[in-house]
Amino acid sequence: MSERESFSILKNKVQTQSPESTRKLAREIAAFLKEDDIVLFYGELGSGKTLMIQEICSAMSIPPEQVTSPSFNIVRTYHSPQAGVYIHHFDFYRMDKNKEIDFFEFDDYLDEKGILLVEWAERIRERWLPGRVIRIKICVTGETGREFLIEPWIFSD
Ligand SMILES: Nc1ncnc2c1ncn2[C@@H]1O[C@H](COP(=O)(O)OP(=O)(O)OP(=O)(O)O)[C@@H](O)[C@H]1O
Ligand SMILES: [Mg+2]
Repeated sequence: MSERESFSILKNKVQTQSPESTRKLAREIAAFLKEDDIVLFYGELGSGKTLMIQEICSAMSIPPEQVTSPSFNIVRTYHSPQAGVYIHHFDFYRMDKNKEIDFFEFDDYLDEKGILLVEWAERIRERWLPGRVIRIKICVTGETGREFLIEPWIFSD
C-alpha cells in the first residue's frame, strides 16, 4: 500500500478520491471493530455509507452482494462465521426522528449480541447508546471526492 493510501483512523479527518480508497479506509475500521461496537454513519445520499458497510462486512467474509440497504425492514442481519460475529445493518433514512415508535426495534438490538452499523444516524442523534460508539461523518467534496470525520470510541455509558 502506498503512503498516500495508508490511513489511520486515529487521525480524525481522512480524504479519499475514489471508491477504492474509501474501501481501504473501511477495512482499517473493520480491523478495529469488536462485538457490540456501534458505528454511526452520517452523510447525504450517495456519500458512501453503504459502500463502507459492504467493505466492513467483506472484511469479515460476508459476501458484499448480501449487504444492501434495508428498505422494507429497517434492519438486516448478517453472520460472519469467520469473525464469529453478527452484524446488524440499520438504515434510518425513512425514519421520523420525532416518532418514538419507529425506534422500538432499534432499541431491542442494543441488547443483542453483534456489531451495529447504522446509516442515516442523523435520525438517532439524541438517543442514548451503550458501549463503544464510533461516528463517521461523510462530506461529498467532488464527484469522487469524500471527506471523513471520524470520532472513535466515544464511550457513552
Ligand atoms: N471516494 C468515494 N468514496 C465512496 N463512494 C464513492 C466515492 N467516489 C464515488 N463514490 C460512489 O458514490 C456512491 C456511494 O453510494 P452508497 O450507496 O454507498 O451511498 P449511501 O451513502 O449509502 O447513500 P444512501 O443515503 O442513498 O443510502 C457509489 O456509487 C460509489 O461508487
Ligand atoms: Mg445507503
